[in-house]
Amino acid sequence: MAKAAVADYQFYNHSPEADDFYREIVAGFSRNPRSIPPKYFYDEEGSRLFEAICQQPEYYPTRTEVALLEKHAGDIKSHVGHGSYLIEPGSGSCEKVRLLLDTLRPAVYAPLDISCEHLKSAAAAVAADYPWLDVHAVCTDITNNVSLDFIPEQETPVMFYPGSSIGNFDPADAVEFLTCLAQLTGPGGGLLIGVDRKKDHKTLHQAYNDASGVTAAFNLNLLQRANRELDADFNLDAFEHFAAYNSVAGRIEMHLISTRRQTVNIDGHKFDFNAGDSIHTENSYKYTDEEFQTLAQQAGFSLCDVWTDSDSLFSLYFLRVSQG
Ligand code: AVI
Repeated sequence: MAKAAVADYQFYNHSPEADDFYREIVAGFSRNPRSIPPKYFYDEEGSRLFEAICQQPEYYPTRTEVALLEKHAGDIKSHVGHGSYLIEPGSGSCEKVRLLLDTLRPAVYAPLDISCEHLKSAAAAVAADYPWLDVHAVCTDITNNVSLDFIPEQETPVMFYPGSSIGNFDPADAVEFLTCLAQLTGPGGGLLIGVDRKKDHKTLHQAYNDASGVTAAFNLNLLQRANRELDADFNLDAFEHFAAYNSVAGRIEMHLISTRRQTVNIDGHKFDFNAGDSIHTENSYKYTDEEFQTLAQQAGFSLCDVWTDSDSLFSLYFLRVSQG
């Protein structure tokens, strides 16, 4: 792992290869239906747009989870203890963890994120605001196997995975990902995870179709990113944002729909689209308590605690890797 000491936090660069995006977009476009993995949303602009989504009045998950973290910080501390190694996969702006740091007083905080520049500024801000905290920032694709050499063997770290990002994996992949987290922490390790719950379709629909069009801009930024980084020629006026709840699969699906017949070039590859053709860009699964607990169990976790808001919109779970 390439390591560089930067001011008052450690930075480890495990960033994905620049041509991963090219290979995955070409592979995804060669399948039917076409798709782009959602991790490519999060370039600098996409990360900024995601922060803006979290501020939209229709996007209830962020404020609901923040209220749960504030309300239950003391209960969370009773599970985490003092002086822990706190690891946050997909840490983004590192805002939510701030709600816990003063209460939990971990020895180490390790944010992991695919968006390197965003990670560096977020980690630097945390290190500046919490001078007692040892911050290790790792730029990595968390969907690949991650190794965290700075964690001593005898430690059982606690993972913090808020935001219902687990919903962006298909259930089988979610089990695989949680299994990797369980292996990273080892028996007895903890996982504090936020999960979006099944609810009325109108609330879900509005959350992914905000009136200001921020989610639409976030979705379309994928094509803009391909134009910027891959020498592609997507016409952004010829695709539109589509998001709807699929009640059979229990997920919001996001797509980009071609509004006309067109040919797109991506660095020499040509792709034809008819009007109405879709590029599937994201799933966001919603879970009942039973569904999520079954999934967590399959990954080797057992339930310690669960906290839910009074409108049953969102749940926070504290899980522990089962011993033996
Ligand atoms: C990051 N993830 C949990 C968000 C979600 O709700 O699935 C991403 C997102 N996509 C559109 N709006 C928010």
